[in-house]
Amino acid sequence: MNRYLITLFALSFITAVTGRELADEFLRLPSEKLDFSDEDSVGTKWAILIAGSNGYWNYRHQADVCHAYQILKIGGVKEENIVVFMYDDIANNWQNPRKGVIINKPDGDDVYHGVPKDYTGSEVNVDNFFAVLLGDKTKVKGGSGKVVDSGPNDRIFIYYSDHGGPGVLGMPTYPYMYANDLNEVLKQKHALGTYKSMVFYLEACEAGSIFEGLLPQGLNIYATTASGPDESSWGTYCPGEYPSPPLEYDTCLGDLYSVAWMEDCDVHNLKTETIKQQYKLVKERTSSDNSYYGSHVMQYGDLPLSKENLHLYMGTNPANENFTFIEENSLSVSPKSVNQRDADLLHFWHKYRKAPEGSDRKTEAQQKFLDVMSHRMHIDSSIELVGKLLFGLEKGPEVLNAVRSAGKPIVDDWTCLKTFVSS
Ligand SMILES: *[C@@H]1O[C@H](CO)[C@@H](O)[C@H](O)[C@H]1NC(C)=O
Repeated sequence: MNRYLITLFALSFITAVTGRELADEFLRLPSEKLDFSDEDSVGTKWAILIAGSNGYWNYRHQADVCHAYQILKIGGVKEENIVVFMYDDIANNWQNPRKGVIINKPDGDDVYHGVPKDYTGSEVNVDNFFAVLLGDKTKVKGGSGKVVDSGPNDRIFIYYSDHGGPGVLGMPTYPYMYANDLNEVLKQKHALGTYKSMVFYLEACEAGSIFEGLLPQGLNIYATTASGPDESSWGTYCPGEYPSPPLEYDTCLGDLYSVAWMEDCDVHNLKTETIKQQYKLVKERTSSDNSYYGSHVMQYGDLPLSKENLHLYMGTNPANENFTFIEENSLSVSPKSVNQRDADLLHFWHKYRKAPEGSDRKTEAQQKFLDVMSHRMHIDSSIELVGKLLFGLEKGPEVLNAVRSAGKPIVDDWTCLKTFVSS
């Protein structure tokens, strides 16, 4: 893939955006009464789950979020303490081969049932997310009004899945979420003194750029990201890959990093698995055995928090009580994956391939595919030209490829970045 695409955020991020037009009580087992290491008996577990995209070809992000909800729910986190942001245009989408059902892996069960519709459609926006996290009911617009009304002993888990770019995360509505704003809100939340610790799992392209050089230590926040600051993250269970979704699906069912942590949660006793153990496993699986088809999972913030057990944030499925985490029984399958940014291309390509010869659908799908391609090529060549104009024929490409140095925030001037992205 062209290096510019990876380097400069606007690119296929914009492509994705233009495409857009188009048991409530915790189950206590007798044995657990002896578990005094269960130090969360005083605090409450809270979670915010966000799918930042819409559109059927982005099926996977909402599938990820629904799956995450099921893990927390079965783990014993109360529905009233889980806030879900999802556009909710997938389950009943006309293109969805299984009406009212969302799956997150090829042979997976429905993960859509029971997911609360706290914030849907245009309510999935940055202002609502920040207000929910800060527990500020007065600032929330629309939706269920549910906020993270947490106290000093509580733990908070945040999971976000969508497209991103350097310093920016997608939302199905404008404006997008900028890294500096998000980190400010995290600092505000810390200043309120309304949590004990927080774990943030982030799936997006260039996800590392959201925290690198920006998330300070001492906020009691531990974050992992699907990718480093300047690389794509990857979709998985995509058509034509192995393992492939059922034939009737022409879209990816999940994202590589997301599926890696969730399928790990599905099978293990999270009372015995630490965040760090999961991090290592997810890193391994997401790198697709260090092949090109994967990304580098990163960690930021207060790393010592990763010694804690996962159940403090996610609860644990009582059925897994005998499945203690050991490296050997971790999931080793590395499904083939598709670059997040190419998932839309793949979707239109499969639509084209499957449509009957000579049908309107075929022409339409072909046009869509060509549109996306030419849009990308246009942006690629524009950026290349800008680089050459600014820095000279030879220097241009070099400068464009050297956007940042390790450990430093992706940009210094956030106002400039915002203007550039929104123009
Ligand atoms: C776990 O193992 C114990 C002892 O063998 C057994 O009694 C219990 O039913 C098992 N739990 C589950 C959920 O299978």
